[in-house]
Amino acid sequence: MKVIKKVRDLQTMLCKLQLTPVGFVPTMGALHNGHISLVESALKQCSIVVVSIYVNPTQFNDKNDLKNYPRTLEKDLSLLDKVLRERDIVFTPDDKDIYPEEDIRVFNFGNLNNVMEALHRPGHFNGVGQVVSRLFDIVKPDVAFFGMKDFQQLAVIKELVRQTKRKVKVVGNPIIRENDGLAMSSRNTLLDPEIRRNAPIIYKTISTASAMISENDIPSIISFVEKSINIIPGFKVEYFEIVDDTELIPVNLRAEMKPGKRYFGCIAVQAGKIRLIDNIEFGLV
Ligand code: PAF
Repeated sequence: MKVIKKVRDLQTMLCKLQLTPVGFVPTMGALHNGHISLVESALKQCSIVVVSIYVNPTQFNDKNDLKNYPRTLEKDLSLLDKVLRERDIVFTPDDKDIYPEEDIRVFNFGNLNNVMEALHRPGHFNGVGQVVSRLFDIVKPDVAFFGMKDFQQLAVIKELVRQTKRKVKVVGNPIIRENDGLAMSSRNTLLDPEIRRNAPIIYKTISTASAMISENDIPSIISFVEKSINIIPGFKVEYFEIVDDTELIPVNLRAEMKPGKRYFGCIAVQAGKIRLIDNIEFGLV
C-alpha cells in the first residue's frame, strides 16, 4: 500500500493508475475490525481502494471529545498494511490539506437535522457533511463504504449525495460486534474497565426490545429499554427511538409502522465519560 499525505500527490497517483471503480473508506483512525470489514468489502468490489485517516475537527461539538479522541496512526497503518494491496492508498491529510480555508458551508439535511444525534450533538452532521463532501471531491470515489453503527450518519451521507447530485454509490455495512455484543467503536478503548464490563447491556437490551415488538407497543418498549439500562451504575440512556431507515422519523405506536418499510431502534447511552450509540432492526411480524 502507499501512504499519501498531500491532496495533489493523491490525485496525481489516482490519475496515473487509472483504475476504476475507486472504492473509498473514510475513517478517523483508531481502526478496529468494523473498519477492516469496510476495507474488505471495498477490496472485493473495487479495483483500487483509498482509506482516509483524518480526525475532522468540524464534526466535534465537544472540544474534550476532540482532544481525547484516540489517535493511533502507526498501529492503523500496520493493520491496513496486512489487508490492502500494493496499489491501494492510505490518505493521511492534515487540517490544512482538508480545509485550506475555513469551511463555512451550512447543510440542510431536512428531518435528519431534527432527530436523535442531531439534537444531542448540535453541528455534528454539518461537520460530517463538510468533511465527507471535501473528501469526495478529492478522492472522487465510485463507491464509498460506511458502517451502520452510525445509522444517522449513513442517512445524512446518502442525503448529501442526493442533494449534491454526486455519482458515488454509498454502501452501509452491518455493525461488527465484540464477542460480548458491544458494537465496535474507536471510543470503546476509552471506557473505564467497570463500564466496559457492563457495556454489553446496551445490545442485550435492544435485542430483547426488538423481539418484544410482536406483543408490546412502542411506549412500553421504550420504557423497558430506559429502565433496563439506567439501572446500571454510570449508564444513562440519552434517547431510544424507533425510526424508519430513510427520513428517520420516529414512530410512537406500532400501528404507525408501515409494511414494506424498514425500522431501526436507535440508542445513545452515556456510559461513564463516554457516549455510545448502537441500533438494531425492528421487523414487523
Ligand atoms: O464515521 C467516521 O469515522 C467519521 O464521521 C467520518 C465519516 C470518517 C467523517 O469524519
